[in-house]
Amino acid sequence: MSAKRWISFPKSEGEHSRQAHADLPSGTYEREMGKEGFFGPTCHFHHRNPPTGWTEFEGDLRPHAFDLNRLPSEAADPWGAARFVYNGDVQVRFWRCSKAMDHLVRNSDGDELLFIHEGAGDLYCDWGHLTYRDGDYIVLPRGTLWRVEPQQPTQMLLVEATEGSYQLPEKGLLGPQAIFDPAILATPQMDEAFRKQQGDIQTRVVVKRRGKLSTITYPYNPLDAIGWHGDLVAVRVNWRDIRPVMSHRYHLPPSAHTTFVGKNFVVCTFCPRPMESDPGALKVPFFHNNDDYDELIFYHRGQFFSRDNIKPGMATFHPCGFTHGPHPKALQAGAAATRKETDEVAVMIDARYPLEIAPMPADIEQREYVTSWQKKG
Ligand SMILES: [Fe+2]
Repeated sequence: MSAKRWISFPKSEGEHSRQAHADLPSGTYEREMGKEGFFGPTCHFHHRNPPTGWTEFEGDLRPHAFDLNRLPSEAADPWGAARFVYNGDVQVRFWRCSKAMDHLVRNSDGDELLFIHEGAGDLYCDWGHLTYRDGDYIVLPRGTLWRVEPQQPTQMLLVEATEGSYQLPEKGLLGPQAIFDPAILATPQMDEAFRKQQGDIQTRVVVKRRGKLSTITYPYNPLDAIGWHGDLVAVRVNWRDIRPVMSHRYHLPPSAHTTFVGKNFVVCTFCPRPMESDPGALKVPFFHNNDDYDELIFYHRGQFFSRDNIKPGMATFHPCGFTHGPHPKALQAGAAATRKETDEVAVMIDARYPLEIAPMPADIEQREYVTSWQKKG
């Protein structure tokens, strides 16, 4: 195949700002249309009306807001919690676990990323013992044997990189220590707690491969390693260790908050940060269509600054082609520059190929979400 390049060259027409996200023509709304998430060619339109100012919206291309707090997801192991959003590259589960697992699990479909929404406890895996608390991400490479012993009732998001691996984003000009220094990644230890759980205890391992479960029973606990060496290991990092990049003069796109990269999807973390202070800089996310990507955001804590009526434990889904942006109240607050900082923590999964939504009980979904961009009162 011959070399290729984008049909991409700078052009402009009519009244427009000199740069994206700054000094917009008075009273206009900026909408970004772009390729490949926030990495390809883009165009910024200046609209007279908000791009989300619809009065009626029919058809399948609706956004969704799910209250995962209502999802029946208490289960003896993560495979008992149904995946609620998925495609061939990524599967997302929400799992509640209050009792110590009495068996081990192994995901042979892909690497597993845990995000601890609530709770604290201990995780035991091939590499040893790792404590966990709310706000932790834990990356478990495909094939890891693991189980948890909650010290507090635990809720977690599980994000499987199906047939893929988690990697760190390329940080380019920022340098490898930016956002979080890889030196902060904690690894399991072969400590006293790990040694204590070893022994000739009959142990079941429930392995997931191609979505199907198999059970392997050992006459001993197979978490019996006495040591290890190598450059593959389970890791833990908390959002509190993330030092987000921002500019006081420019609203950075979500891609600047990428924490992990899977195959055809990314996991981004929105952490507390100061708001932009430059008078001409956009203070809220720009309107966009998610061209090329499906977007799932899980709300962990704080007040999500660009959305109304969203509380911790909820998730929103914006499919490719659905124009969205700040809710009217956030837009007003942004224009008035009333907030100096954000206090939200949210996890975004941006998938290059369409995500499917699994059937869920009716009361999980906030049906009126599509109208939440309409001005009220
Ligand atoms: Fe978006």
